[in-house]
Amino acid sequence: MNAENKKRNVILDCDPGIDDCLALMLALRSPELNVLGITTVCGNVPAALGAKNALKILKRYGRLDIPVYVGEEKPLRREYVSAQDTHGEDGMGDSGLSEVEEVSPLPGAVDFLNRTLKEQQEVSVIALGPLTNVAKALEADPQAWRRLREFVSMGGNFKSFGNCSPVAEYNYWCDPDAAAFVYENLPVRIHMIGLDVTRKIVLRPDILEYICQICPEEGEFIRKITRFYFDFHWEQEEVLGCVINDPLAVAYFIDPSLCRGLDLYTGVAVEGIALGQTVCDEKGFWKKAPNSRVLTQTDTEGFMRLFLSRVAGAEEPQLSRVLRQLYPAACRNSIEGGQQDA
Ligand code: BDR
Ligand code: CA
Repeated sequence: MNAENKKRNVILDCDPGIDDCLALMLALRSPELNVLGITTVCGNVPAALGAKNALKILKRYGRLDIPVYVGEEKPLRREYVSAQDTHGEDGMGDSGLSEVEEVSPLPGAVDFLNRTLKEQQEVSVIALGPLTNVAKALEADPQAWRRLREFVSMGGNFKSFGNCSPVAEYNYWCDPDAAAFVYENLPVRIHMIGLDVTRKIVLRPDILEYICQICPEEGEFIRKITRFYFDFHWEQEEVLGCVINDPLAVAYFIDPSLCRGLDLYTGVAVEGIALGQTVCDEKGFWKKAPNSRVLTQTDTEGFMRLFLSRVAGAEEPQLSRVLRQLYPAACRNSIEGGQQDA
């Protein structure tokens, strides 16, 4: 079997979004993946705008051959609330990047998802935004989803606090009905990359500096799109740098040893003060078979090793030397501990 045959077919469903862009960059630089298409959903920004942003990343990487499909512009039942306060009006940190003119996004993300699941073999989906497209597609054609290989979703939280209410994470809070439907009906176990693990993935100023040193073009691009995100994190939480949630979902799909977790039944609250909260039945009260693998621990340094080698082309032995500076053994526990549950 040659390397091309071993690539895993994947659709990236996303809402770019600064950290979605970084996740797309990681996916496009990962030889293990065959990206069949990118679908966008309303989330950080409207789906049509997210699709334009996805094209900007594809163009940078010379991959305009990958189709981008625009998906749902409204959550299933709730009013749409974007996250442009976090990601900028343009969703890319108000970086003013020029539009891609060579190709346009295509309509019909939901149809694309179902068609691809039926026509291609062993397709997995990595969802980096609200689950509206997935819920719509699953509802329209449950048989297509019986062919799904794996499903990784950035969203939710187990023991960690929320990021848009005391208990809810943005992707599931934005469309809780879609998240609840998908958790109830998807025929495969959902790998839930929630805030418990993504909060530990911080693009720190020193890490960005390293990228700029070894790969100035990529470093300047990342600096440009994350400047707004850095400011947001400083103002909101006095975090130096920014939490980059979505690339961890891609990294975990490539290398599952980067996270550890528990197989649990998870439900999603669709009303009331807990709107959008993932309720993970750790103690088995509901006596339901697990529908999710809830990731609770992550190897921060391992993630960064993968990210830096793929996105910035960092090479050994320098990469290991730099990682020792970035994550000194003496601090490792406090980094992990400091990011744990509130
Ligand atoms: C999630 O919400 C969005 O703001 C990010 O892109 C990420 O997918 C984190 O809660
Ligand atoms: Ca996202």
